[in-house]
Amino acid sequence: MKYYHVPQDFRWGVATAANQVEGAWNEDGKGLSIADCERYDPKKAKAGYKVANDITSSEIQKAIKDKKSDGWGKRHGVDFYHTYPEDIKKLAATGINTFRTSIAWSRIFSNGDDPEPNEKGLKFYDNLFDELHKYNIEPIITLSHYEMPLNLVLNYDAWYDPKVRDYFMRFAKIVVDHFHKKVKYWIPINEIDSILRHPFSSAGLVKDRFPNKNFEKVIYQAMHNQFVAAALITKYIHENYTDLLVGSMITSTMVYPYNSDPRNSLKSVQVMRESYNFSDIQIRGNYPLNLLSKLKKLNVKITEKELKVIRDNTADFVAFSYYSSICTAFDTTGLKITKANRTEGVYNKYLPTSDWGWQIDPVGLRIILINLYDRYQKPLFIVENGLGAKDSLTKSGKVHDDYRIDYLRKHIRQMLISLENDGIELMGYCMWGMTDMISASTTQMSKRYGLIYVDLDDLGNGSYRRYLKDSYFWYQKLLSFGDKI
Ligand code: BG6
Repeated sequence: MKYYHVPQDFRWGVATAANQVEGAWNEDGKGLSIADCERYDPKKAKAGYKVANDITSSEIQKAIKDKKSDGWGKRHGVDFYHTYPEDIKKLAATGINTFRTSIAWSRIFSNGDDPEPNEKGLKFYDNLFDELHKYNIEPIITLSHYEMPLNLVLNYDAWYDPKVRDYFMRFAKIVVDHFHKKVKYWIPINEIDSILRHPFSSAGLVKDRFPNKNFEKVIYQAMHNQFVAAALITKYIHENYTDLLVGSMITSTMVYPYNSDPRNSLKSVQVMRESYNFSDIQIRGNYPLNLLSKLKKLNVKITEKELKVIRDNTADFVAFSYYSSICTAFDTTGLKITKANRTEGVYNKYLPTSDWGWQIDPVGLRIILINLYDRYQKPLFIVENGLGAKDSLTKSGKVHDDYRIDYLRKHIRQMLISLENDGIELMGYCMWGMTDMISASTTQMSKRYGLIYVDLDDLGNGSYRRYLKDSYFWYQKLLSFGDKI
């Protein structure tokens, strides 16, 4: 049996996002958000991430007309808006001291441009955070996690529009002022690099709304606006609340060359660089030259003042998600392709694959920890890591998810080995999932990540009853340091 040394103040937790769990999409003054327009579509889900989030204006109009929630998974989520006291009570019993979620922007400003914030929305999060603190659980809050008010897409130009950046700042300042005594850790934008892969859910960009514009330019302009907004809210937090910490947040998919052909290695470096570009900006404060020259070529508007804001207001810690790895090849002809977190790559014969085709690679997590720490020498935080799988509920209400236990155990083991041997600083680990929830990429319920099973299917049928999975009891045992890692 091997026990690893874990720092006393290490944060063990679970993670989720408002739009994937809360439901209550039209209650207590919440407005329609972009997530409420993502419908579960078996064909799109099968085709993968590129299609799943490709949305058109006419699909949005259809969504607006449909007032039901069945089939619109993110409208009903797992009803966390109403069940949170019971869910948190169950999660607290595992021994977690951290809970990551987001604040739904459209619950605080239903249209994004309303003159006043919605008091009922603020009250909900007050109650939620109080409930967490009752069990000594610290919230980590993301301000923008795939859920902006739809009005900012329809009547403005979403994140392409500088006015939307101002509305975001107003929302962000209001919630930071309101919750600064209850929330110490803030992440301005979830997986800020994801805008390049899914511009709709990350930034509200719908291609057909920009008929006369180069859509690539639109995406990069919106990206720049997000960087400026993240830096501005970091400045605001640092100037006003010195005890609070702000994190950058990127998607970390480990990328290997398919073999030792240097051209494949070059490709893997280029792909990794694309996501490191994003943390470089938020941690080092400068646009890397390769990205800056791209922005210049596209004629993206950037002012000296904005660059200064980005330079002077860097993040305190490096948060990231990690699920899987891919291989790259300069020529993929004839090679088997595999999926990963909203991307795809060449299949790696050394690794097993999840039910959704993501390859499982615990050692990849250790490499990412070393890479990120060596790059920045800033504290790291694993804010998402987990396995989306098909679970089945037995007649006696059990879920024997030994595959999830295996996944979590192996990733946590690599994390602990890294902590002990690699000279890194790591603030904490949040497994993705608490209860099951609606998948971000495919809007499926059947892609389950939680420690707690929720009786619900892809179309919204079910009792919403909760059942503790075997992984729940395993995590509980781990957190009391009773399990062999
Ligand atoms: C992360 C997102 O990229 O991956 C989460 O931040 C998401 O919102 C998670 O749920 C898993 O992806 P998916 O598509 O399987 O839900």
